[in-house]
Amino acid sequence: RFKARLDYCKADVTNGAGMKPLAEHIGQASTIFFLALSPSLYGAVCKALDESGLACGDCRIVLEKPLGHDLESSRAINAEVAAVFEEKRVFRIDHYLGKETVQNLIALRFANTFFEPLWNNLAIDHVQITVAETEGVGDRWPYYDEYGALRDMVQNHMLQVLALTGMEPPVSLASDAVADAKVNVIRSLRPLGPGDVRTHVVRGQYAAGALDGHQVTGYLQEEGVRENSRTETFVALKTMVDNWRWAGVPFYLRTGKRLPRRASAIFVQFKRVPEILFNRRVTLPPDMLAIRIQPDEGFSLEVLAKRPGLDLAIQPVRMDLHYAAEFNGQSPDAYERLLLDVMAGDHTLFLGSRFVQRSWEYVQSILDRWQDDASIPLETYPAGSWGPKAADELIRADGREWIQP
Ligand code: BG6
Repeated sequence: RFKARLDYCKADVTNGAGMKPLAEHIGQASTIFFLALSPSLYGAVCKALDESGLACGDCRIVLEKPLGHDLESSRAINAEVAAVFEEKRVFRIDHYLGKETVQNLIALRFANTFFEPLWNNLAIDHVQITVAETEGVGDRWPYYDEYGALRDMVQNHMLQVLALTGMEPPVSLASDAVADAKVNVIRSLRPLGPGDVRTHVVRGQYAAGALDGHQVTGYLQEEGVRENSRTETFVALKTMVDNWRWAGVPFYLRTGKRLPRRASAIFVQFKRVPEILFNRRVTLPPDMLAIRIQPDEGFSLEVLAKRPGLDLAIQPVRMDLHYAAEFNGQSPDAYERLLLDVMAGDHTLFLGSRFVQRSWEYVQSILDRWQDDASIPLETYPAGSWGPKAADELIRADGREWIQP
């Protein structure tokens, strides 16, 4: 039934005249235009939609991330899109916001009593966010080689997850209220000074290695990738959220391609109890909340309990919620949810222009440093490993370890 509704129309979408076939095809209907194109075309396409009379009435525009290649181009895109579409008709997609567990972060934090009083620097030692992928760059190299992991994953998906984890309670669940709360987290990220990029950010590129028992090629051997490309396929970074709630609590972010598992998770590690009662003779592991974004969506709370028996032995136990088992079945796909929201005109799960600007500002300080200082290493890591050693050293320097999702 769905297939019968599909149609294909070939048009040059970069100028008004080229759009003619499309304009004739769809007429004056209220249309949703979904631009899953190179961001460098967004401005031209909006102009062409306008010139061809397609950008009329109640039509909407959906833009796929990343919105720009850097801060400057993202500002330009914002202005070019705004010249044609009013903000309420613009939907900027970051599909992580459509993921069930990412949405559940708000419910977990604000629909329960016991997380929020502990959700601050008094109880939390640090937070880790890992987005690991097994896939390599594949046939997406024309895009990827120009963008790299920092622009492709950190500027959008990872900073979104960080914002939802760190934000203050919004005054309501209305999209502008949630947007305000999220943007404030990004505004509070401690700016990276010139020397900080070297010490706080690790970039890496995968070399050949073994994954799931198969040999896979390195990034530089992937078809289409530029010779001697310095595009990063891995980023790990440490950031501080300089506000009242999070003062002194580091957030460690890590993402990469060709890592051992496809798994994304947020780990909230609590502080250890004082070295007085149980913690006196042995060092006990701290409590931890693990929110699994994918696969096996759910969350677990690792706490300590007494092992049954005559002695007083303490051992970590896990309280685990698996969405699939608890809620009987599959969660909707992120895009399924988001595209329905576009039709309904609901902006809650979309990127606001302020968030996009602020997140680019943060990321731009890293890009500038990488650009200006060629001595900042691009580490390599074998495909199938958890990234370069320097990423381990980054977190170990603080006496902590990465938790593998
Ligand atoms: C996309 C990135 O936005 O997200 C890809 O461009 C990445 O490089 C993908 O692979 C990951 O999405 P998911 O839903 O598989 O985690």
